[in-house]
Amino acid sequence: MGQIVPGFKLDNLPPQRDKVETIEILRHTSRAAAALAELKGIAKTIPNQAMLINAIVLQEAKDSSAIENIITTQDELYKAMIINQSNISSATKEVVNYRRAIFHGFDFIKEQGFLRINDIISIQQQLVNNAAGIRSMPGTVLKNDTSGEVVYTPPQDKADILDLLSNFINHFNQNEQDLSPLINLAILHYQFESIHPFYDGNGRTGRILNILYLILNNLIEVPILYLSSYITENKSEYYRLLNQTNRTGEWEEWIIFMLKAVEKTSLKTIAKINIIRQLLNRTIDEAQQKAPKIYKKELVELLFEMPYSKIEFVVKRLQVERKAASRYLRGMEAIGILESQRVGRETLYINRQLIEVLKK
Ligand SMILES: Nc1ncnc2c1ncn2[C@@H]1O[C@H](COP(=O)(O)OP(=O)(O)OP(=O)(O)O)[C@@H](O)[C@H]1O
Ligand SMILES: [Mg+2]
Repeated sequence: MGQIVPGFKLDNLPPQRDKVETIEILRHTSRAAAALAELKGIAKTIPNQAMLINAIVLQEAKDSSAIENIITTQDELYKAMIINQSNISSATKEVVNYRRAIFHGFDFIKEQGFLRINDIISIQQQLVNNAAGIRSMPGTVLKNDTSGEVVYTPPQDKADILDLLSNFINHFNQNEQDLSPLINLAILHYQFESIHPFYDGNGRTGRILNILYLILNNLIEVPILYLSSYITENKSEYYRLLNQTNRTGEWEEWIIFMLKAVEKTSLKTIAKINIIRQLLNRTIDEAQQKAPKIYKKELVELLFEMPYSKIEFVVKRLQVERKAASRYLRGMEAIGILESQRVGRETLYINRQLIEVLKK
């Protein structure tokens, strides 16, 4: 239990309008909105959305978990997802949980069109794999990693936390004062992190809420825009600005930070989608030319949806016998599209080129 620094009280939303809609903020809002709109359009042109979502969500799970120093390798992760292994590292398990939590949240938004406090609790529960829920014991403080100094004390009383959360969720579901949803995204993220409703996993839950908010507002249709890698790259700035907003109630710099994150990440994701698309087309051409007898478009698409594949997947997707499925995969290996690897009793077929693209 750390020392509790009183003196700061978190306000309910919304903040004063003129503090969150300065000229500088509006300028960055249009740039972020333009980049995001372009991303939304380009994402739609990918024929197989599952392909895109799988690749990007897994990368995000990895990046977001890395902020907490939960480090795993791409190789370990893919294996953990498709084969039953007993020796999965705890880091890998956490990343797999994170991925599951994103889809869990996505389902709530798709099914309900809004989010409830209980849904947030359920998302966090998936992440941390325990049922502790909302903080009910005092003592949670945020410290500077290196100096150990307490930089921020979130509300300690459970009743206060619940009040703030219900104010938060109202603003999450309805932005009644027609503020730009991108500005509101920044405000909501600050607010959620400052309420800090859980003992742990607040950062990761908050980052999942970000993408859910974008989807809810139809700024993007599928969960493919993630700010985690931007946040990791600018981590000290991210913490500094959260702190500054706590202390001064000034929003401008924080909101601009988040808008830049949206803009830069959208552009990066667009570039990535273009590379994936080129690789997909090139792979289709190659398979058609070098292995015309076994070429099937759905097969190649499957190899992009599941960059680590196995016979069973092909059996299911293409509705063929194991023998044929195995022949297809080995055929793809023979022309250099796949690389096989034996893991226990299973043979995995790896789309190495895609894995390399996704890593970048
Ligand atoms: N001064 C601050 N005010 C508000 N929120 C803060 C402040 N400093 C840090 N935070 C938030 O607290 C989060 C960390 O909280 P917690 O450890 O519960 O989450 P996590 O998901 O386990 O960690 P991480 O975000 O590092 O992955 C940070 O990601 C950040 O968003
Ligand atoms: Mg933590």
